[in-house]
Amino acid sequence: MVGNKDDGFPRPKVWAPRYGVDAPALPAVLGAAGAVCCAAAGRRRSGRKALLAAGTLLLAQSGTYLHTTLRGKLRIWKRELDLVGLKGDERLLDMGCGRGAVLIEAAGRLPRGHAVGVDLWSGDQSGNRPEATRANAAAAGVADRVDVHTADMTALPFEDESFDIVTSAMALHNISSPEGRYRALDEAMRVLRPGGQLLLADVWFAAKKYVRHLEQGTLRSLGPGYWYGSPAVGVSLLHAVKESPATSSAER
Ligand SMILES: C[S@@+](CC[C@H](N)C(=O)[O-])C[C@H]1O[C@@H](n2cnc3c(N)ncnc32)[C@H](O)[C@@H]1O
Repeated sequence: MVGNKDDGFPRPKVWAPRYGVDAPALPAVLGAAGAVCCAAAGRRRSGRKALLAAGTLLLAQSGTYLHTTLRGKLRIWKRELDLVGLKGDERLLDMGCGRGAVLIEAAGRLPRGHAVGVDLWSGDQSGNRPEATRANAAAAGVADRVDVHTADMTALPFEDESFDIVTSAMALHNISSPEGRYRALDEAMRVLRPGGQLLLADVWFAAKKYVRHLEQGTLRSLGPGYWYGSPAVGVSLLHAVKESPATSSAER
């Protein structure tokens, strides 16, 4: 409970979901290096301009990164989930859900459906643990339709064709081997029902290989709002529809 300055009566504290920072060491290193360069530029005569330029660039990269992880990716996933045209009764799986940025946004659109997240809770996101994801689901008012499992996306503990939608954001590239990443893709397609949709966001150069592996789907850049510091680490969305026996191809 927190006090309210206006009327002196305590008000219940309203918790908002907090999704942490992706790979938090990276913006910290970029920011620290930028600050060091700028400080050195202030003390030196030679190479001052170059140091200042490098420092400014590094600080801008750190800021862009933080914007992406704290705001940009959330806005972009809202937009992408709107584009899917959910009916509200689907079963959705989010692979590598972390603290639930995508899982919980999707669950909000599934009043009669269910959203399941799987993760191994690595340090690739700050404060990454299942309790944090469940607390975020409760804060967003969707705890009743969210399940969180500790599971490896390369060996999903779910039946074939048991989901209508599979999502994944910035998770697959964490798997160290190409075979492992392709296994996770195959698992996503296995658990999708025919006609179900895969929406997978990852760094563009990795996502290109995923489309080649699947031999289907479309790839689209998600733009500057999903740059982890620079366009070189921009994110693309792979969208694929699992073919039903009756149809040879389907479009979004
Ligand atoms: C950068 S975080 C992204 C989390 C979340 N999708 C988001 O966008 O906020 C990557 C996540 O992938 C998870 N991850 C990595 N390898 C995994 C695996 N083999 N199976 C399940 N989760 C995995 C990590 O634990 C981490 O939570």
